[in-house]
Amino acid sequence: MNSTVLELKNIRKLYPGVVALDGVSMSFKKGEVHAIVGENGAGKSTFIKSITGAIEPTEGEIIFKGEFIAHNNPAKSLEMGICAVYQEFNLIPYLNVAENIFYGRYKTKGIFVDYESMYKETKEILDDLGVKIDPRTLVKDLTVGYQQIIEIAKSISRRAKVIIMDEPSAPLTNSELIYLFKIVAKLKERGCAIIYISHRLEEIFEICDKVTVFRDGKYIQTLSVAETNKEELITLMVNRDLGEQFPPKQLVKKDKVLEVKGLNTDVIKDIHFEAYEGEILGFAGLVGAGRTEIARAVFGADKINGGEILLNGKRLNIHSPKDAIASGIGLIPEDRKQHGALLHMSIQENTTYAHLSNFANKFGMIDFKKEIKAVNEYKEALKIKTPFISQKVKNLSGGNQQKVVLAKWLITDCKVLIFDEPTRGIDVGAKQEIYQLMIELAKQGKVIIMISSEMPELLGMSDRIIVMHEGRITGELYREDATQEKILSMASGGQEEVK
Ligand SMILES: Nc1ncnc2c1ncn2[C@@H]1O[C@H](COP(=O)(O)OP(=O)(O)OP(=O)(O)O)[C@@H](O)[C@H]1O
Ligand SMILES: [Mg+2]
Repeated sequence: MNSTVLELKNIRKLYPGVVALDGVSMSFKKGEVHAIVGENGAGKSTFIKSITGAIEPTEGEIIFKGEFIAHNNPAKSLEMGICAVYQEFNLIPYLNVAENIFYGRYKTKGIFVDYESMYKETKEILDDLGVKIDPRTLVKDLTVGYQQIIEIAKSISRRAKVIIMDEPSAPLTNSELIYLFKIVAKLKERGCAIIYISHRLEEIFEICDKVTVFRDGKYIQTLSVAETNKEELITLMVNRDLGEQFPPKQLVKKDKVLEVKGLNTDVIKDIHFEAYEGEILGFAGLVGAGRTEIARAVFGADKINGGEILLNGKRLNIHSPKDAIASGIGLIPEDRKQHGALLHMSIQENTTYAHLSNFANKFGMIDFKKEIKAVNEYKEALKIKTPFISQKVKNLSGGNQQKVVLAKWLITDCKVLIFDEPTRGIDVGAKQEIYQLMIELAKQGKVIIMISSEMPELLGMSDRIIVMHEGRITGELYREDATQEKILSMASGGQEEVK
């Protein structure tokens, strides 16, 4: 029996100055979860967009259930049973969960939309997955994680033959990840072929059967997950020696720079902490613990009900992000798609528009040479993969878009930089570059605050870790004493207080 459902032959895609895909041939089988891994810009998203017809490959053939597909487009491939969950969401915020799941193919009874039956079927899908959401909830009122789960649940209701997931886990927390794994298991049981793209290699070992490595637009190798390991995959992906994952860092305790006293918002309560020159201060906690809210409050993005923020002993009056930036505080947000990048503008514009005055000469005119040099330096340092800095950000790969947002903040001379989930969606090699940069900035005397859900990153990078639970600080650990167990116990509200 031939269980191959989808076959790609010699797919090439050229963009001006870039070979995004360089003759990739692969096939996918029923009931198999097949991962594709590779660095940011390796061509993964371009490959799946070629399969769905979202873009037209320059060359190559697509064979689905034994037949060539000509003139492919997203509607046609969906109709045939190829369903994709893109890196960017496709949900409509002002429609409810059921309306989103059935978008474009509403159930009808006569001339009326059959809401009852749509709600019923949505509830069945969600119940089956153990997700407790009312099908009538508006999508905009869900967390990013739940929105992603709805996006994926859509594929269950569509009875697709091939399901492609492009970094489905990126916005999910560990507890939400369980739902995703359940969905994948369910689809596999039904005999779907699943193409799974992720930068979190652990996941691949948990749910995938096969893994294919892409590098620089090229197909490198397909391995059976049971017969490979993380190290081998990383070597194939990056093709260079990565060395130590977390660069060494020495903290010499210097002056107190930031002091937060009794900060209160609707979510966080009575927050006190301080941060020192050259320190990397980690914030740990489960999702919803209030870490992002602290960042937003300090940055002037959320209304403060009480408390003080002091910088170098001076009390700040922050009412908006503009005030925060003027005082020397920067925030690199968690949701970089929504709050970070201006997709229709170039890399250069995105990096410097907020700080053009930094590049002014003594006559107040912009020194373009200086600007271009600075942008190019960060493009190199962060390995933003594109031939020119005039490239529009929307044309970059997902991970490279993230790097542009990072570059924008790194180029400022903020005294305090808050990174919210700095390495989400970033490949293993680039992660290291970002760690290296953070350490570099700390060495220059900046304060780095790092909110992260990745335990190795918190433990490997932070000089000190503050742990939160339900809007309050529940503990603080110095690098030497910090362990995963202690952090988890504090994050779940345990009383342990180790100083
Ligand atoms: N519309 C476009 N115009 C020009 N270049 C593009 C366009 N779309 C993609 N590229 C380039 O093609 C290459 C492959 O991008 P792709 O999005 O497939 O990478 P990826 O493997 O999905 O990366 P990531 O892990 O960051 O999501 C990148 O160098 C990217 O800049
Ligand atoms: Mg991508």
